[in-house]
Amino acid sequence: MSSSGILSIDLLGEQIASVLADPATTHGLARSLRAAAKEIELHRYHHASRRAWPHRHIDGKPTKVQIGGGSHRIDGFFNIDLVPPADLLWDVREGIPFRDDSTAEIFSEHFLEHIDYPRSAKRYVREAHRVLAPGGKIVTGVPDAAFALNQYPGPLGTSDETIERWYAKRDCRDDINTRLDLVNLVFRDQDDDPTYTPHLWAYDHEKLVQLFSEAGFTTVEPWAFDPTMSNPKRCWGSVYVVATK
Ligand SMILES: C[S@@+](CC[C@H](N)C(=O)[O-])C[C@H]1O[C@@H](n2cnc3c(N)ncnc32)[C@H](O)[C@@H]1O
Repeated sequence: MSSSGILSIDLLGEQIASVLADPATTHGLARSLRAAAKEIELHRYHHASRRAWPHRHIDGKPTKVQIGGGSHRIDGFFNIDLVPPADLLWDVREGIPFRDDSTAEIFSEHFLEHIDYPRSAKRYVREAHRVLAPGGKIVTGVPDAAFALNQYPGPLGTSDETIERWYAKRDCRDDINTRLDLVNLVFRDQDDDPTYTPHLWAYDHEKLVQLFSEAGFTTVEPWAFDPTMSNPKRCWGSVYVVATK
């Protein structure tokens, strides 16, 4: 990125902040600008890391890597995320900054549904295939759309339990309390709430198998939930697969 590019992005960030601070800014414009402001922040983090590794590869070869772990760090794993406290702040929509065949294991949960499909999701899975050594494995967990959709024809109580388990800590229960609200949450999350990043695509077992098979993985199998690695709160209503190169 040229220095003039960084300058104009800084300027754009300042202009957006000032429009957002203006009470006359309409709700619709504010929603779009908040999303742009967030992408500007991520762009800054990403390019700061990229400047440290201008050849697009980090120096080391981490054996185990977690992508999109957020604050859930796993012992012995090198953590890549858009935002702190990761070991590397990096936007994997731009690729994975490792050499070919250089890592043994990749783990991610509740991350894939936050990147756009097909462009970024397919690129990410192809990149995972490139950086894994032969025989290497990638474990992927996502909210199980089939689980939520299966509850739609059933009694409200079951959906209600899911909403409670998934979203109890959020201040959304007054607005999200029907079976269709649960389906909406799986497909969009609370995209009107600036503190949550929306879901951009929904997945089930079949879709995950297709995605990883298309990218060249030899086997794609269900993965048994392992609480020593996973965030325990993902145990319920998620679908996981392990794909082997
Ligand atoms: C819903 S959180 C899940 C965190 C953790 N895996 C868990 O299950 O609790 C999604 C995480 O993915 C990260 N993420 C989203 N898009 C990303 C991208 N393009 N590159 C790297 N990380 C990304 C977010 O910053 C966030 O930490």
